[in-house]
Amino acid sequence: MEYQGKWALITGASAGIGATFARSYAAKGANLILVARREDRLRELAAELEGASGIKVKIIAADLAEDAAPKIISGALAQDATPVDILVNNAGYGLPGFFTENAWTAHRGFLELMINSYVQMTRAFLPGMLERNWGRVIQVSSVAGLVPGSAGHTLYGPSKAFLVSFAQSIAAECDGTGVNSSALCPGFTYSEFHDVNNTRGLVSQLPKYMFMKAEPVVEGAIAAVERRHVVYVPGAWNKFTTWLAKALPRPWAHAMVKNQSKKFRKRKDN
Ligand SMILES: NC(=O)c1ccc[n+]([C@@H]2O[C@H](COP(=O)([O-])OP(=O)(O)OC[C@H]3O[C@@H](n4cnc5c(N)ncnc54)[C@H](OP(=O)(O)O)[C@@H]3O)[C@@H](O)[C@H]2O)c1
Repeated sequence: MEYQGKWALITGASAGIGATFARSYAAKGANLILVARREDRLRELAAELEGASGIKVKIIAADLAEDAAPKIISGALAQDATPVDILVNNAGYGLPGFFTENAWTAHRGFLELMINSYVQMTRAFLPGMLERNWGRVIQVSSVAGLVPGSAGHTLYGPSKAFLVSFAQSIAAECDGTGVNSSALCPGFTYSEFHDVNNTRGLVSQLPKYMFMKAEPVVEGAIAAVERRHVVYVPGAWNKFTTWLAKALPRPWAHAMVKNQSKKFRKRKDN
């Protein structure tokens, strides 16, 4: 068991990619700290994994869009001396519509979760990893963070681009230590993501080869952070599109994303 005795904290563990990270790290022997808002889901997953893998699981129900949440989580873990050896910042959602169609409060809540919580959680747990000279930090970004911005879901791409750059900076700062930092950049992945943001109807019209199951995405990310692969893009299609977006002249790449994203990102009133 590769991670026996290590503790992995996963945000957004109640569904999709986060629950898949939990199952995968549990199968590899890690103890888990599962964080999300839906406590009933976390309890069910904890019961399943404690029974099957003989590991310890803690759950913390928290809304990471609240500024105080990361501090409350790290405070609770410090109180019972639980270290965080592996941090997977994953909780997220998409905010449909064009920029001016969403109120500032909606954008602010989005940025709190998608940027601030990732940075705060990293700030809380990275010092302990450096002290112990062992740690793994995965920021769950997206292909959207590696291609030009699109119309609709306006702050999604910029927030994911931030995470790519953040993971690179943390990797550079941790060079020569036992702490590895990666950004995972998935493309379309089967999860509850498109149900939550109400785009299931649109994305289900896209070709199936554009989609991946969460399991290979997560297995690839866990292997990537081990080998200090800082920006990891899972799957041949996602690798091709991110390569193309870089290889094409900027205006062409911009036009490509603009045209393709029209298929699954709309104005609210459409
Ligand atoms: N699926 C894709 O196609 C895709 C592609 C690229 C990147 N991603 C990224 O992958 C990550 C995981 O998404 P997913 O596809 O697994 O979606 P998902 O199935 O909808 O899961 C999202 C998770 O985030 C949690 N979450 C949402 N808001 C939260 C909040 N305010 N506080 C705490 N937890 C919160 C949800 O739990 P609760 O509702 O219980 O709080 C849930 O566990 C996201 O960062 C997403 O941007 C997804």
